[in-house]
Amino acid sequence: MKKKAAIDVCLFPAAGYGTRFLPATKSMPKEMLPILTKPLIQYGVEEAMNAGMNTMAIVTGRGKRAIEDHFDISYELEHQIKGTSKEKMLADIRHIIDKCIFSYTRQIEMKGLGHAILTGKPLIGYQPFAVILADDLCVSESEGVLSQMVTLYEKYQCSIVAIEEIDPQHTDKYGVIAGVEIEPGIFRVSTMVEKPSPADAPTNLAIIGRYILTPDIFDILQQTKPGKGGEIQITDALMEQAREGNVIAYKFSGKRYDCGSIDGYVQATVELYNEMTKK
Ligand code: UTP
Repeated sequence: MKKKAAIDVCLFPAAGYGTRFLPATKSMPKEMLPILTKPLIQYGVEEAMNAGMNTMAIVTGRGKRAIEDHFDISYELEHQIKGTSKEKMLADIRHIIDKCIFSYTRQIEMKGLGHAILTGKPLIGYQPFAVILADDLCVSESEGVLSQMVTLYEKYQCSIVAIEEIDPQHTDKYGVIAGVEIEPGIFRVSTMVEKPSPADAPTNLAIIGRYILTPDIFDILQQTKPGKGGEIQITDALMEQAREGNVIAYKFSGKRYDCGSIDGYVQATVELYNEMTKK
């Protein structure tokens, strides 16, 4: 049974260019790339629903209209396949459309993830909210990763980032944290560095694309100057909260696929296919 949501809104920053998937992403959003038959963003929405959320706020950009169309009824198509065996292929998406409210805003200039989250503020208001980066596909045996994080939020009532141990040579692709382990796999964050070189990384604990953020993050983001790569980094804003002891990092249970990279995308496709054909 789903728990009552302590957090109702999930934000999906989906305005990035997805340059690693060019030319596929030239006119199609990266978030619409399918793993088997479902686009990445649908997996994300399902994970948010599994965590008890039903309000999905999506930050889009130019060329991303397919996302809005996906979470809408396609009358012609549905009429066409009505009464055929194919009708059931739309059952999951129809369920999502029935249960969730979607709202959208556009990020006009792609000034980084922190900026994309700040752009979503009018869709959220002043309440704690979740963030899913749909190109990080998370799968778990039972409870979804975001649902695990909501349970933690109920206990700690502060911002939470999901982390995993990575190969120390790859720290320059991630935000990296250090902190005190207060429970097994749960850290009170003291340091966060965006994309450090392996020599400068405080640990090999990397932030992946799942967050729960308290709304003061918006005030902080408003003041946050461009950081690494000239972008407004969510890591820099979170570091402000961490200074007050208000960020928890959580080694989630489950597996993450970096579907923003070709290797991760192919691995997810193969492993989910194997899983499906086993059944
Ligand atoms: P990435 O670093 O994966 O960038 O963004 P990208 O543009 O999507 O992909 P590449 O690197 O060019 O292939 C991480 C997440 O932050 C969002 C992206 O959509 C993705 O979900 N993002 C990033 C924004 O929404 N706006 C931005 O300005 C930057």
